[in-house]
Amino acid sequence: MGVKDQIDLQRLPEHIAVIMDGNGRWAKERGKLRIFGHHNGVISVRDVIEGACDIGLKYITLYTFSTENWNRPKLEVIAIMELMVTTINKEIKNFMEKNVRLRAIGDLSMLPDKAYRELQKAIETTSGNTGLVMTLALSYSSKREILRAVKLVAEQVKNGDLSIDDINEETFEKNLYTSGMPDPELLIRTGGEHRISNYLLWQIAYAELYFTTKLWPDFRKEDLFEAILDYQKRERRFGLTSEQVN
Ligand code: FPP
Repeated sequence: MGVKDQIDLQRLPEHIAVIMDGNGRWAKERGKLRIFGHHNGVISVRDVIEGACDIGLKYITLYTFSTENWNRPKLEVIAIMELMVTTINKEIKNFMEKNVRLRAIGDLSMLPDKAYRELQKAIETTSGNTGLVMTLALSYSSKREILRAVKLVAEQVKNGDLSIDDINEETFEKNLYTSGMPDPELLIRTGGEHRISNYLLWQIAYAELYFTTKLWPDFRKEDLFEAILDYQKRERRFGLTSEQVN
């Protein structure tokens, strides 16, 4: 029985977040420039999205570019932005066929004009799709997202639209970029590092973490299925005892 067939489709995580790490090392191992790794990373994205659609996953959020990544060598930044634009343009037909809705979270105002325009166009074109919601975290920093939410809440209190007593998890979350999305139950990080790198810090409070040494360009849908299987073997206790959960 293949890995996919072992997955219990009734107990899928609703939302999977992914830190796609290891593109640079993958390229270096082959004596190539880092951008070669990013190009091959796109092949992994395509395959993983196909796998996610096959099993009927509802949300996937991909860490595509962090605010810290702006400090990478200029040529690499330009190349990643161009790659994003060409990939989105190329994939849009596929998104429509597969009923995938594209979204983006992060400080999109920092994107180059062309990348921003093309991204918005694709978001709009796919906005009516009702299948997988594929969110790109772009120019994203979780700490900045939380601070932004704090400021928005403060503004609402100042304007008399919200009372301090009504600030709770629910009202706060409405001010995060991810408002309206369920929190990820599973976070996958490729590339062998065991860290979160400023990603969805609020939203992963109770996520199961899955680390693999596979570099992102080697990651395929079967690896996604392996991660889901591993997730399904875990007992999620949310602070309760094992007896209480069972
Ligand atoms: C991390 O690997 C990867 C990135 C910062 C870029 C990820 C972008 C892509 C895969 C392109 C995706 C495009 C779309 C449209 C989704 P790294 O460069 O940090 O690798 P390293 O840790 O080996 O240096």
